[in-house]
Amino acid sequence: MGLTRIGLAGLAVMGQNLALNIAEKGFPISVYNRTTSKVDETVERAKVEGNLPVYGFHDPASFVHSIQKPRVIIILVKAGAPVDQTIATLSAHMEEGDCIIDGGNEWYENTERREKAVAELGLLYLGMGVSGGEDGARNGPSLMPGGSYEAYKNIEDILLKVAAQVPDSGPCVTYVGKGGSGNFVKMVHNGIEYGDMQLIAEAYDVLKSVGKLSNDELQEVFSEWNKGELLSFLIEITSDIFGIKDDKGEGYLVDKVLDKTGMKGTGKWTVQQAAELSVAAPTIAASLDSRFLSGLKEERVEAAKVFKSGGFGDILSSQPVDKAKLIEDVRQALYASKICSYAQGMNLIRAKSMEKGWDLKLGELARIWKGGCIIRAIFLDRIKKAYDRNPELPSLLVDPEFAKEILDRQSAWRRVICLAINAGISTPGMSASLAYFDTYRRERVPANLVQAQRDYFGAHTYERIDMPGSFHTEWFKIAKQSKIRGHL
Ligand SMILES: *[C@@H]1O[C@H](CO)[C@@H](O)[C@H](O)[C@H]1NC(C)=O
Repeated sequence: MGLTRIGLAGLAVMGQNLALNIAEKGFPISVYNRTTSKVDETVERAKVEGNLPVYGFHDPASFVHSIQKPRVIIILVKAGAPVDQTIATLSAHMEEGDCIIDGGNEWYENTERREKAVAELGLLYLGMGVSGGEDGARNGPSLMPGGSYEAYKNIEDILLKVAAQVPDSGPCVTYVGKGGSGNFVKMVHNGIEYGDMQLIAEAYDVLKSVGKLSNDELQEVFSEWNKGELLSFLIEITSDIFGIKDDKGEGYLVDKVLDKTGMKGTGKWTVQQAAELSVAAPTIAASLDSRFLSGLKEERVEAAKVFKSGGFGDILSSQPVDKAKLIEDVRQALYASKICSYAQGMNLIRAKSMEKGWDLKLGELARIWKGGCIIRAIFLDRIKKAYDRNPELPSLLVDPEFAKEILDRQSAWRRVICLAINAGISTPGMSASLAYFDTYRRERVPANLVQAQRDYFGAHTYERIDMPGSFHTEWFKIAKQSKIRGHL
């Protein structure tokens, strides 16, 4: 056998699938894992899935030496210490000009640290977000590589073929930018994903709890929605979920699933970064909070007892609702809420890009999310077009087309949230989106009062609307004098 074109280390399912995908696109690939059975398993799968050019190695030295120079090795192991260990193992055998690509969900600063560390050895480094789950890795993921441009150029031909292909908008990959930008963008992608899932869950809750829709009806509704502006992977799988019967008993599986959401951390990082950069991301934060509260299952069970025994049981009214109207209202509320959530995510990326000098192209990011990844949706095309129209757009909300879409939907949006509030059904994501919109669109917000309070107790000073400068007032003294006068 001659030298292979690329290598991949870390053969859990994602790694195996990505290796097979690369091989299938015609690039001979070397694979390695410390657990040698994983190597044999991958080579076996390559045989079964079409005699794909996958070559397995049981030791790091022969693995590295089997790859043509400049060598490119993708590592797909758990983020954190395992990445450092794998880099140490492999880099010992690599040479100047070779490149390491970390395809994990890594914290962007770790990538920047490693890029510097391996540069001392003359190695190039990329941190590449990979989205689309196991299926995406095998059949075409969305790829978000950031770091060394030279390294990107060395494997651009591979990435262009391996990524998901979307008609009229090309492969779902682009050189994102320098440093840890690829990881950062993937992190925000995941935060947006949290938001989308929460908004869909709230739509489900309102339709089920207020509208009394059955799972069959829900399946129908979501599959209808998936034919229009909400068309997306998450809406599609949601529709599928409502159709699946429980294989261990009566009824539908979704009703047997424990209402406790797990998480791995990227959503939390997104919210932390938003706070760090002073960017409001309330919809994404609400989705994270909802996961935290969902985790308190036992406490919620007890709380429900307390409020029921206190006479506060089911406050859902028995008033009949117009189902068709509710369904259409919820559809519009979901769409409008989603616009606000994406506006937050995009603004977070822009803020970081400015802080770090990454020069990220927001429209291009929307384009590479159109296929392969979990948030893929027809809606992303509109986002791309909004940034094509105006790359300096301060917020998606003020793009003329999105502004119109929101205005067209705001009555329905408000109706759904009012209905939910009155029924005691929480819609934290939709409500956060609406509050975000209602704050952002207002010329004057009550921050004047907060500023006055700050100046009152802390002499923090304030600015005036009618003249320049910074002012301080002895609020307390004046108030005291007028109180005394009042008593006289
Ligand atoms: C190999 O496989 C094991 C277990 O599946 C995993 O923990 C490890 O990180 C993998 N990667 C490498 C590079 O050895």
